[in-house]
Amino acid sequence: MILCQDVAKLRELVANFKKENKSIGLVPTMGALHEGHASLINASAKENDITIVSVFVNPTQFGPNEDYEAYPRTLENDCIVAQNAGADVVFAPKNKDLYPNEDMTWVEVTGDITKVLCGRTRPIHFRGVTTVVSKLFNLSRADRAYFGLKDAQQTEVLRRMVDDLFFNVELRIMPIVREADGLAKSSRNTYLSPEERKSALILSKSLKLAKEAFTNGQRDVEAILNLVKDTIQSEKTSQIDYVEMYKLPGLKPVGNKIEGRVLLALAVKFGTTRLIDNVILEDK
Ligand code: PAJ
Repeated sequence: MILCQDVAKLRELVANFKKENKSIGLVPTMGALHEGHASLINASAKENDITIVSVFVNPTQFGPNEDYEAYPRTLENDCIVAQNAGADVVFAPKNKDLYPNEDMTWVEVTGDITKVLCGRTRPIHFRGVTTVVSKLFNLSRADRAYFGLKDAQQTEVLRRMVDDLFFNVELRIMPIVREADGLAKSSRNTYLSPEERKSALILSKSLKLAKEAFTNGQRDVEAILNLVKDTIQSEKTSQIDYVEMYKLPGLKPVGNKIEGRVLLALAVKFGTTRLIDNVILEDK
C-alpha cells in the first residue's frame, strides 16, 4: 500500500491507474479509522481495481467552537487499518495542499437540505464537506465513492451535489456499523468517559424502540418522536440537540403520518461530546 502525502504525486498515481484502465474507488475519511470506515474500504476493494482512502481532518467543516484541534489524528494506525481492509493508496494531504489560497472556491448546496438537522447548529459544516469532497473527487478521478449512512444528511447533501454538478462518480452508501452493544461506531466515541459511554447506549436503544413501534404499525410522527425523546431523557446526563424526521430522498418535511421512506435522526450531547445516530423507517 502506498502512503501519498502530496497532491502532485496523487495525480501522477491516478493518471497511471487510468492509463491502465483501472477502476478507482474513493473512501473519504477524517482518519481515526474504525470498523465503520473499514466496511467502506472493504466494499470499495470488492468493487474496484484500486481503492484510495483519503485521511484529512478538514478544517472548513468545523465551526469556531467545535473539536477541530481535539479531533484524533492517528495516521500510522490508519494506514494499518486501511491496508488490512484492502486499500491501495492512503492519501493524507496537508491543509495547504487542499487549501493553497486564502481566496478560495466554495462548493455549497443551498436550501433546507443543509439547514435542517445538523445544519441548524452547524451552519457552515456542509459547505466545508461539499467543498473538500469536490476536491477529492477531482483529484482521485474516482468511478465510485463510498459513504456511510451514519451521516445520513451528509449522503443526501452529497447526492444533491453530484446530481447538480454532474460529477462523474457513483455514490455507494453503506449501512451503519455498530459496537456489539449497539452504539454506532464513531471516531468521536473516544471522547466519552466510561460513564458517558454507558449513557450513550440510550441512543441506539431509543431508535430500536422507534423501529419496533413502527413495525407494530405506529405511523404517527409525534408519537414516535416523543417515544425517542422520552427514552433519551430517561438518561439524565443526555442533552438533546435534535430528534427529527424527514422524508427520503431529499429531507423534505414529513407531515403528521409516516409514509414511504423516512429518516429518523438524532443528535445528543453527553458532556461535551455530541453524537449522531439514525434509523430509516420504510413501508415494505
Ligand atoms: P468521517 O467522520 O471520518 O467518516 C468517513 C466516512 O465513514 C463517512 O462516509 C461516514 O458516514 C462513514 N462512517 C463513519 N462511522 C460509520 C459507521 N459507524 N458505520 C458506517 N459508516 C461510518 O464523514 C466524514 O469523515 C467527513 O465529513 C468527510 C466525508 C471525509 C469529508 O471531510
